[in-house]
Amino acid sequence: MVESATEIHLPPKALLQLLADGQLHSGQELASVLGVSRTAIWKQLAKLEPLGLELQSQAGKGYCLSGGLDLLDRSRIQEGLLAPVNAAISQFELFEVLDSTNAWLMRQELGSGISVCIAECQTAGRGRRGRQWVSPFARNIYMSLRVTAETGFGAFEGLSLAVGVAVADALGDLGATDIKLKWPNDILWQGRKLGGVLIEAAGDPSGRCHAVIGLGLNLKAEASMIKEIDQPWVSLEEILDNQPGRNESVIAILNYMVPMLASYETDGFRSYKSKWESLNAHLNQRVSLQTGLSQTAGLVCGVSDSGGLLLSTDRGLEVFHGGEVSLRAEM
Ligand code: BTN
Repeated sequence: MVESATEIHLPPKALLQLLADGQLHSGQELASVLGVSRTAIWKQLAKLEPLGLELQSQAGKGYCLSGGLDLLDRSRIQEGLLAPVNAAISQFELFEVLDSTNAWLMRQELGSGISVCIAECQTAGRGRRGRQWVSPFARNIYMSLRVTAETGFGAFEGLSLAVGVAVADALGDLGATDIKLKWPNDILWQGRKLGGVLIEAAGDPSGRCHAVIGLGLNLKAEASMIKEIDQPWVSLEEILDNQPGRNESVIAILNYMVPMLASYETDGFRSYKSKWESLNAHLNQRVSLQTGLSQTAGLVCGVSDSGGLLLSTDRGLEVFHGGEVSLRAEM
């Protein structure tokens, strides 16, 4: 299912499924399985490169997709979810191509329950601070969840930190160790970025409103990402000996994220604070905090009950909240 006008044109799913095994397939085999001419196959294969997929061709032998493809499967995901998690999800959408899963959920009418939107790739993936989120086809996880609150934006205080805790728990279940969180919501492994969270809110700031929580998690290194990302990053395949499947990874994340979101308006950040503190990548480190054009140096002392960053500065203990804040270790 392809939503809205995008520049991406996918080859037929049957072709993707054939190439998913990462093995060599001759042009003739592909053409006969799909019941089209070899010329038609070449045209379809040409659509793979803009998706960020590395197609290799061997003269006289055929084509293979480097590393194969692990496509997402809606039924497999739903079957793997805990019963209360399935019950809490009122809408579950899986797209092959979207501009952005966050943008898609922000465009939907307000409803009740938790909405989940996942895409195999994004043509305009959004990162924090206006950055692009590189989103090649079927490589990583691009997922957004929407939750509604009745008590205004205050209900979402500290939410981005709680999301980090839920993702860290899920990664722990998948076998990852040494996962840390960088305030407010980067997921790190040994100082390198494994994932990021983008939260957008809309609606009545003091009444019925919703938050869209977007998670981008790197699962597989891919050439187009390596060229385009301007900071140290890592993917799950580098961290884990036993690489989980993409469906399994989505299931693990939803099984932690959905219960957290379902009770967040009631529980708030307090329930997640001590766990966040234990995962704090910069605790007791001197850092430089950039807010807009100003920079503040200080020692990271933890986070407040509402998820603000506690910094010991030359003015004393200060709390910093949200906004466009970046955190960099001082030289
Ligand atoms: C960051 O800059 O660290 C946040 C990145 C968030 C990326 C995810 S991918 C799924 C969702 N849809 C988007 O357009 N962005 C978020």
